Amino acid sequence: MADKIRVLLTEEEVDARIGEIAAQISKDYEGQEIHLICILKGGVFFTCELAKRLSVPVTMDFMSVSSYGGGTESSGIVKLVKDLDESLEGKHVLIVEDIIDSGRTLAYLIEVLKQRQPADIRLCTLLDKPERRVKKQVKVDYVCFTIPDEFVVGYGLDYDQKYRNLPYIGVVEQEREDN
Ligand code: IMP
Ligand code: MG
Repeated sequence: MADKIRVLLTEEEVDARIGEIAAQISKDYEGQEIHLICILKGGVFFTCELAKRLSVPVTMDFMSVSSYGGGTESSGIVKLVKDLDESLEGKHVLIVEDIIDSGRTLAYLIEVLKQRQPADIRLCTLLDKPERRVKKQVKVDYVCFTIPDEFVVGYGLDYDQKYRNLPYIGVVEQEREDN
């Protein structure tokens, strides 16, 4: 069975926009070092592409949280699956996410990370679905694309763990029974 995927943002569009955001971030952090926190697994493609284009010094760490089951709706319960390896004390932390939807994951994460005495915490996301926001207090500093309320895949984003490797952002339109 294959899903039909409609392209929402092409690889060229995504790459160009990441370049713009990276330039903006490099300017904002001039003279400082950024500690990038990649939120696994979805944030990994975006984090790599972003990191390659930053002109300020960068360190990186990874963390994994789970807020979804196998489907497309947030459970509202956030579980810390893998914690960071490094301390955040005194660091300029930039959290890198694939998408902000209800905002539950980030609202939880920011509260947890704030306790660890970073110099500051900012948030960068590839995609933002503001119509879906439940946690209105989540402030996003860098957004590559604001998208409508559709379930998207590709560039790290999955549907039931599939499609993360697509080099573009697409919408799963329908499931076909014939192949
Ligand atoms: P939130 O806690 O509702 O903001 O959800 C954030 C997480 O849900 C993201 O990091 C994704 O892993 C997942 N998610 C939300 N919307 C989508 C989507 O359209 N496609 C794939 N994953 C999504
Ligand atoms: Mg995610």
